[in-house]
Parts: sequence; C-alpha cells; structure tokens
Amino acid sequence: MTRETSLPPDTSVFDCALIIGCGLIGGSIGHGLIRHRVSSQVVGYDANTAHAHIALQRGLIEATVTSLDTALANADLIVLAVPVGRTEQLVVELGRSARPEAVIVDTGSVKQAFTQQCAQLLPANLKSRVVPCHPIAGHVQAGPEHADAGLMEGRPMIMTPEQEVDTEVLRRVARMWRKIGFNTLTMSAQEHDAMYADLSHMPHVLAFTLMHHIHDRGMCPDTLNAFAGNAFRDMTHHAGRNSRMWRDIFYANRAEISRSLADFRRSLVEIENLINSEDQERLEQMLAQLQQARMSTW
Ligand SMILES: NC(=O)c1ccc[n+]([C@@H]2O[C@H](COP(=O)([O-])OP(=O)(O)OC[C@H]3O[C@@H](n4cnc5c(N)ncnc54)[C@H](O)[C@@H]3O)[C@@H](O)[C@H]2O)c1
Repeated sequence: MTRETSLPPDTSVFDCALIIGCGLIGGSIGHGLIRHRVSSQVVGYDANTAHAHIALQRGLIEATVTSLDTALANADLIVLAVPVGRTEQLVVELGRSARPEAVIVDTGSVKQAFTQQCAQLLPANLKSRVVPCHPIAGHVQAGPEHADAGLMEGRPMIMTPEQEVDTEVLRRVARMWRKIGFNTLTMSAQEHDAMYADLSHMPHVLAFTLMHHIHDRGMCPDTLNAFAGNAFRDMTHHAGRNSRMWRDIFYANRAEISRSLADFRRSLVEIENLINSEDQERLEQMLAQLQQARMSTW
C-alpha cells in the first residue's frame, strides 16, 4: 500500500550533488536542486559528453565532470538518472568509489532490478544509504533539451526503500524531493513494479503494438498522415520517442508486464465477445460504466 511520508521540518542541504545521466530526468532534477538551493554545488556526468554540455549550457547543472571515480569520491548526494539497463555497471562503480556517508538515489521506472543490483553489488555500509525512487513525471521527449525543474512540480515521487535503509537517509531524501516540488509516497519495490506494469509499461506495449499492427496491415506513414484521426494519434503518442528507454523497461519488468498483458487479453476477449453478441444493451452498459470510470478520474 502507498502512504504519504510525514516529515519533520528540516532545512539541511547537500554539499555536492552528482547527477549521473544528464537527460530529461537527471537534467530536471539537477535544475530543481539548483533552483531550490538543495545542494551547494550540482555537477553532472553523462556517457554522452554532448548531453552533459547541453545540460551545463541550459543551467541544469553547474559543472561537468569527466572522471566518474573522482566525482563519486566528492559527492554527498548521488542521483542515477540513466536507462534502467545501464545501472548495473554504475552500481559496481558506486561500490568502488562512493563516499561511505553519501546518499544514493536512482530514478528508474523499474524498482526490483535496481534493488537486487544494490543488494548483490554494494558493500554492506553503502546498502543502507540507497533509496530507490521513481518520479511520476516527465514526457515523451528525451534528452537535456527538454529538461526543466517545472516538470516535477506537484508530481508524485515514489520511494521503495528496503528494510535496511538508514532512517535518517530516508528522511533526508524525502525532504530533498519535497523541496524540489515532488509529493513523496512509499511502497515496496514489488508493489511498484506490479502497479506500473498495469499503469504504464503494459499501456506502452499497447502503443508500440498498435504501430506494429498498422505496419503489418501495410499502412505507410503517408496513409496514416492522410487518414488517421486524433484517436489513433493519441493512442500511439507514447510509441513516438525513446525506444531505447522502453526496451530496458520492458526487459527489466518483463514478468509483471507478461502478467499484465495476460489480464489485458482477458478484458479484450470480454469486450470482443460483447461486440459480437446480439445483446447491444449489455455492450452499451459496459461502455457507459467505463466512460463513467474515466470521467470520474480526470
Ligand atoms: N522519460 C520519462 O518520462 C521518465 C519518467 C520517470 C522515470 N524515468 C526514468 O529515468 C531514467 C532516465 O530517463 P530519461 O527520460 O531522463 O532518459 P534520457 O534519454 O533523456 O536521459 C538518459 C541519459 O543517461 C545518459 N547515459 C546513458 N548511459 C549512461 C551511463 N552509463 N553513464 C552516464 N550517463 C549515461 C544518456 O546519455 C542520457 O543523457 C530512466 O531510467 C527512466 O526509466 C523516465
């Protein structure tokens, strides 16, 4: 179950925040840390140096670093904001070079895989300093060009701490997220991955599958452009960007996504059976119920 994290008032800040991965999410968080003065210094490292430079030019970080080991040894806050398929190697590097008193968070869209990597690869003293997190914020565009602290205003930040996390580290992380605009919530990594398989990952599979289906039907971009209505455009919107990020998410959460797709297939068959039945009133009732559920949510 999720619950609001209650926090005692505190104004503590970090000395040196290191953002690893200065793209949409890392850049937005760096921007938020600078804007709300949550860290005296915010530095950024990115495997793609062009991204780090764009982040610097846009004021999302205050300096770029080229040596990850040195940057890890200097940082008291470390934010991982890379595709979920890239965290494993970075966890190894954290174990080698992070300061024992550093606070470590990630931002990946899948939580159990990262939690397992930390359990297996970090030394005991650092395991209690990690808070796995997932911002429910962002948009389809990737990269630092689209990053902005405003993306996080009023959005949920889900934290999935393990039992062994240091309570003060958890409090500090929650305070930091709230200072830059997030509402913090906690749940287990398992609950998170099941919930977001249903709410985000499986629906993204459907968006990509719609494009796959229409491609298989032989419809080329010109045909879609000329004939597709807004509904098709809306429903495939999220197949339009960052396929690398989605590849990693689908693979990392494949067990829950498969479970979610199996549930979805059952719903699809139920609706298909109603469409094919003579009982059009039952179909209308079902559609009206679903319309009502949608309207009472947004
Ligand atoms: N985009 C969203 O809406 C969204 C929302 C919530 C969570 N997330 C999660 O946030 C994370 C980052 O996603 P994003 O949208 O910012 O993607 P992005 O592509 O905009 O940024 C990722 C950045 O990481 C860099 N990078 C990749 N491998 C690296 C490595 N080994 N070391 C250093 N830098 C590396 C890339 O060059 C890129 O600049 C992902 O794990 C994603 O699941 C994304």
